[in-house]
Amino acid sequence: MIPAAGSGQRMGAGVNKLFLTLGEKPIFIHTLEAFEADPLCAGIILAVKNEEKQEIESYLKQFAISKVQAIVEGGTERQYSVAACLEAYLEDGVVLVHDAARPFIRRAVIHALVQEAAAHGAAITGVKAKDTMKLAPTGIVEETVNRDALWIVQTPQAFRYEILKKASDQAIADDFLGTDESMLVERTGHPVRIVEGTYDNVKMTTQEDLAIGEILLKRVQQ
Ligand code: C5P
Repeated sequence: MIPAAGSGQRMGAGVNKLFLTLGEKPIFIHTLEAFEADPLCAGIILAVKNEEKQEIESYLKQFAISKVQAIVEGGTERQYSVAACLEAYLEDGVVLVHDAARPFIRRAVIHALVQEAAAHGAAITGVKAKDTMKLAPTGIVEETVNRDALWIVQTPQAFRYEILKKASDQAIADDFLGTDESMLVERTGHPVRIVEGTYDNVKMTTQEDLAIGEILLKRVQQ
């Protein structure tokens, strides 16, 4: 499930950042290609803004993306876009939620997540914090946090379908808004495992990320 219905305001590009190109292709096409080429991926459900649906469909055609099974209308928050994807998916099994804005996801990480989620129900990827971490809610340091215990969490996040559907339904019923799917599952009490990912699985959020993305792309192509 790939939420792609954001506005990308922090990119300041005036258009959905996912249409910006890295190399020759829009960001979201790189992301989709990772799943298109992966034999473990049975199908893709994409959440988009209604007014961008046509443009997205024409890119899918142009770049021969054939695994998209459904394109649903996204919501005002990422969580609602994912909920719309969950409504469109009616089969049992492991589902992955991955930001369209993370084009550098590696197959080894996807496969490790699928394996963990199949065995334990819920698994997310992240990397260890490299910098010293401080807690400073008012701008004044309250505490230096033990970074060995901290993970910077990314997507994909993988779940057995019924676990994520139940958590998503519950969050919506409670008016709870999380920043990732794991938060929704955590509040149901189901343990969420962490799979160590890679630092280059960056989310294209601001202009600096695009510059980093261009460098990463060259490295992948070499
Ligand atoms: O804005 P941000 O980069 O954190 O969004 C992460 C992903 O969620 C992006 O792929 C974006 O298109 C998607 N999203 C969405 N619906 C929203 C907000 C974000 O599908 N309302």
